[in-house]
Amino acid sequence: MCGIVGYVGPGSSLDVLIGGLKRLEYRGYDSAGVAVLPDDGGIGARKRAGKLGVLVDDLAESPIADGHTGIGHTRWATHGGPTDVNAHPHFGDGGRLALIHNGIIENFAELKAELTAAGESFESETDTEIAALLVGRAFRETGDLTEAMRQTVHRLEGAFTLLVLHQDAPGVVVGARRSSPLVIGLGEGENFLGSDVAAFVEHTKRAMEIGQDQIVTIRPDSVEVIDFAGTPVEAKEFEVAWDASAAEKGGWSSFMKKEISEEPDAVANTLRGRVVGGTVQLPELDGVAEELAGINRVLILACGTAAYAGMLGKYAIEAWARIPVDVELSHEFRYRDPVLDERTLVVSVSQSGETMDTLMAVRYAREQGARTLSICNTQGATIPRESDAVLYTHAGPEVAVASTKAFVAQVTALYLLGLHLAGQRGALSEAAIAAQLGELEAVPHKLQQVVDAVSGRIAELAHWMSDTQSVLFLGRHVGFPVALEGALKLKELAYIHAEGFAAGELKHGPIALIEPGQIVFVLVPSPRDPSSLHKKVVSNIQEIRARGARVIAIAELGDVAVVPFADEVLRVPLAAPFFQPLLGVVPLHVFGMELATAKGLDVDQPRNLAKSVTVE
Ligand code: F6R
Repeated sequence: MCGIVGYVGPGSSLDVLIGGLKRLEYRGYDSAGVAVLPDDGGIGARKRAGKLGVLVDDLAESPIADGHTGIGHTRWATHGGPTDVNAHPHFGDGGRLALIHNGIIENFAELKAELTAAGESFESETDTEIAALLVGRAFRETGDLTEAMRQTVHRLEGAFTLLVLHQDAPGVVVGARRSSPLVIGLGEGENFLGSDVAAFVEHTKRAMEIGQDQIVTIRPDSVEVIDFAGTPVEAKEFEVAWDASAAEKGGWSSFMKKEISEEPDAVANTLRGRVVGGTVQLPELDGVAEELAGINRVLILACGTAAYAGMLGKYAIEAWARIPVDVELSHEFRYRDPVLDERTLVVSVSQSGETMDTLMAVRYAREQGARTLSICNTQGATIPRESDAVLYTHAGPEVAVASTKAFVAQVTALYLLGLHLAGQRGALSEAAIAAQLGELEAVPHKLQQVVDAVSGRIAELAHWMSDTQSVLFLGRHVGFPVALEGALKLKELAYIHAEGFAAGELKHGPIALIEPGQIVFVLVPSPRDPSSLHKKVVSNIQEIRARGARVIAIAELGDVAVVPFADEVLRVPLAAPFFQPLLGVVPLHVFGMELATAKGLDVDQPRNLAKSVTVE
């Protein structure tokens, strides 16, 4: 939530900032703003409510003087509505200092009262302006921007990333972070700061992590990191694993469409190097091998789509490794006094690695003595850095706000973990593990077949259904999390009522929702599955059909039993039970996108949302 970029160097600040903000816009798109230090002194700033395009047009119509030091922000509103005045930057020291912020300053009311009593006046309704005024006051006393930031952060409670520049400190941008994201980009004679590496990856792939409660000062030829006490800190450098082109739309009509097309690669890349000769190779877990051998329980923590991936992980890990697994929404877990100890493995699942609810839950779990493993798609993000071990998914940058390729990559990583634990505990034979891995390795090719086969037909269905007010999704066993995922996509993208149900739950209430014309997607288990679930789900279809539902079945090739009862059958290739959801989810991702498109909505940036939820 909120994208932040900072720049010092010989280039055009405005070019770097606007380029960075374009890549960060998925983090928030209520308003955008920039501040630069022009060579002839003063501060040039512009901020506008609306998407970044509004700011860009405004700057084109009435330009501000450019410079070589600058900060830029794209906002997801928390305190104060999305207006020009509430947009960042905010100003201190009589307009000589500009500051941008991601996070929430929790003690803002008392600081505002204190500053008001001291004679300061406020232009905006934001919590951010307090930080700008505090840094400004400290700068007046110290004349040192880093020290002014250091003094200010001690006054703030809550989560924040702050970037600041001052017209009396040209060529300097100072950043601070507590529980919100910030990374450094290292250039030749220029340096960058960003909420994530997307902010600067078109300029440099050399990046540095900044730890919790640290302050960074960038100049064109230096980067200095200290902790909040002022002690110098050695920051860890890493190379960004993807190119700027990976975060570009290319010829696609939307990032979401591109990212759905990348689902096969997301699985293949997450598997790459980790399946060798029918065995799982996860050297990332070597450092915690002893701890893993001692666990007696797994607890998966995540939010939204990542939590649905977690549910699939639960089913598979329990079946393969025979360890009890629970899945919990991070925000519920954290506040209910849960029972866990050092024999609990807490697995957090997060595409961004910055979701505040999940970060807080991981911190809490660590405090209780649990072992923590992060499944994450973003290098250098906070959650993996604060965990005992990390399994990175390699889905590549996900820009569309609704998660698609990250979901299949998360499921893949959880399955690898499940098979690793199964091997370590002797719960599955070597041959059984090799067989499951063979199925997993076949998924990318089958995913490609689904993407190619169903996309056109689903676009037709979505256009035909563009006035639909409600869609239900049914699944059973591993089909249930997929039903939940299908419903979430429709809510967030097409803004219509959508619910996912466990098919077995239907008769316990939800069947009352069925009336003539109600559209119901059903994930149909394979008829080859030795359990009797296929028959049971076909019976469920008959029950809702008898009450007038229009059924769209997602069934495997050759399943003829379902045909007489479905209005439409979308076919997916044959796969063993645990791998069916990876295939069945694609038609639902495509459907959410196509229905939103048919309604004329922005599929990449749905209303009220942001990609990375960095506030609780
Ligand atoms: C839905 C979606 C969200 C995220 C959730 C967790 O399409 O994208 O539900 O899955 O906000 O985000 P991460 O994975 O970044 O922790």
